[in-house]
Formats: sequence, C-alpha cells, structure tokens
Amino acid sequence: MTKNRETFGSRFAVIMTFAGSAIGLGNIWRFPYLAGEGGGAAFVLLYLAFSLLFSLPIFMVESIIGRRSGANCMGAVRKLAPGKAWRLLGALSVITPLVIVSYYSVVGGWSFEFFLKSCGLAFTGCDPESVKDLFPAFTSSFWGPSLCFTAFLALSCLIVASGVKKGIEKFSKYSIPVLFLMMVLIMVYSLSLDGAGAGVRYLVKPDFSKLTLPVCASALGQSFYSLSLGMGIIITYSSYVDKKENLLASGTWTAFFDAIFALMAGFAIMPAVFTAGIEPSSGPGLIFETLPFIFAKMGINLPVVSAAAAILFFLCICISALTSSVSLIEVGVAYLVEEKGLRRGTAALTVFAGTWVAGMLCSL
Ligand code: PFF
Repeated sequence: MTKNRETFGSRFAVIMTFAGSAIGLGNIWRFPYLAGEGGGAAFVLLYLAFSLLFSLPIFMVESIIGRRSGANCMGAVRKLAPGKAWRLLGALSVITPLVIVSYYSVVGGWSFEFFLKSCGLAFTGCDPESVKDLFPAFTSSFWGPSLCFTAFLALSCLIVASGVKKGIEKFSKYSIPVLFLMMVLIMVYSLSLDGAGAGVRYLVKPDFSKLTLPVCASALGQSFYSLSLGMGIIITYSSYVDKKENLLASGTWTAFFDAIFALMAGFAIMPAVFTAGIEPSSGPGLIFETLPFIFAKMGINLPVVSAAAAILFFLCICISALTSSVSLIEVGVAYLVEEKGLRRGTAALTVFAGTWVAGMLCSL
C-alpha cells in the first residue's frame, strides 16, 4: 500500500461517503420518473433485484480492487494487472468521471441558483405560470449559469482539496444524515397533501405489462448509475477503506441507503406533482420547471409552507449533487497526487481548471 495514505475513520464514515457518492441527481430527477413510467412497483422490484444481483456484486469487485491495491484507478491497474490493455481501462476510469463532473456541476450550479431563488422567495407569492419561465430565462443568460457552475465546482474542489478525512469524509458524515432528515420532512408533507394518492399509485401500482426490454435496460442502467459503478469512484474510495472493514457490510448498507433515498425522493415528488394536476417528467424539466410551479401554486394558500418546502428541497438537491461531484473529482485528484506527484491542493486546482473549461462549454 502507498505510504501515508489516509483511511476513513469508521464504518459510519465509510457508508456515509459511499452513500454521498451514490445519492445524487440520479435519485431525484431520474428514478421517480423511470419508476412511474416503467410500471411502478414492477420497475422498483426489478431495480432492487438488479441492484442485488448485479450492481452490488460489481460494487464489491470494485471495492476489493480498490482496497487490495490501496491506490488510485491507474495505480490499481498497474499493481494488479500489469499490461497494456488494462492500462487503457485505468485511463478510462480516470477520464470518465472528469467528463461527467463537467456537466454534473453545471446542473449542480442550477440547483444552487434555485436554492438561492427559493431563499429569496422567488416562487412564493408569484404567478405559477410565470414561475415556469424562470428556468429557460436563467439558462439562456450567460452570467447566472456560469457563476453558479463556477461556485459549485469550486466548492466541490475545495472539499476534495481539504483531504480525504478532513474534507470528503467530514462533509459526507454530516451532510448525508441531514439530507435524509430533510427528505423525510418533505416526503411526510407531500404524502399529507390532498390527492397524494395518485402520486403514490403512480409509484407503487405494479404493472408488469410495462416491463419491456428497454424498461428492463433502464432499470439496470439506473441501478449502475445510482451506485456510481464503472467509473473509478468505488475503486478510489475503497482504497481509503481500512483493511479491517467488512466491505460486504458497508457495500450493502450503501446500496440500501441509495435505494431508500430514491424511493423517498419519489414519494416526496410524485404526490406533489399529481396534486398539482400535472404530468410527471424527468430531468431538468421536473426539478426546475414543474416543482417551482408546484411551490408557487402551493404558495397561494400556504406561503410559509411553500417557502420552507422550496428551500428544503433545493438544499437537498444541492447537497446530494455536491457529495456526488466530490466523489467524481476525487478520482482525478487521487490520480494526479499518486501518479504525477502533485500536492493535493495543486491536483484539485488542476482538475478544477480542466473541468471548468469543459463545463463552461456545456453551460453555454
Ligand atoms: N450516483 C450519483 C447520481 O446518481 O447522481 C452520481 C453519479 C455517478 C452521476 C456517476 C453520474 C454518474 F455517471
């Protein structure tokens, strides 16, 4: 093992950092919609089965590679499978998360802006129809998205630069429990709305006739995406896991929390969507157009509740996106530190510079 390598402090810290990577935009803007479209409970069952049969074993394989090698993705490949073809896999594992974080941080920046908007009561007390225009107006401007993206990416890199224990572990250890608590509050409120039943039925009513091949593929894809598989994150994070830690236990807890959070997000979002009488969608449309519309509609009768729900919700999205982007960035930083001999701060700055350029292109 590389000398003086940091390790996570406890099992709780391990699970929270892995869960921080797993729980992200995929749980909030992808899962609820895919589940509803794909036959509700039928999709959920398939997703859980795939997670257990495929994703968890792959998660374990990556964990074992990471802990065994005690190195970044490139170092792990070099140590465990010396040979040209495998080096290519190592290189891909370093590059892919950096490409992903470039667009992921753009969306992170949007959620940061919408969190600020909700703090400024931008949805409460406004005409719901006009609130829908906030998102296209925001994304078509130059400064707003660019500044928010830059702030989001800078904060993610700063957390990574602070170290594995003092940065990544500390941030995840405190923010993930708070994230769960906030999501429970939103979910309980959403389920108490008149007409929440339609949203619940959308998610849980099993319709096995909808389980077509593309739906099965999307359940498998969602399970991979959500557990952050196949892109070096699990290898890198596991290289910081102590030899005494039971990888099966921490991996299973991570998959459990990831799935529970996705379901909670579904039960928080869909009842509100159906109560407002709108068709569910996925992606940016759901988070940045549909939900502000709902908050504005809610604000007509319940301004305080609407403001609180909007602030909590966008804070949840910001935190979940941050803990995930941190994990994507750490892959590149670990590589630069261990393979290129850069100091952690310099490595984080280098990753910031590269992904900032790519992200700005996405943002524009
Ligand atoms: N698992 C996280 C999510 O679901 O948002 C983060 C993530 C990892 C996103 C890997 C995308 C990705 F390709």
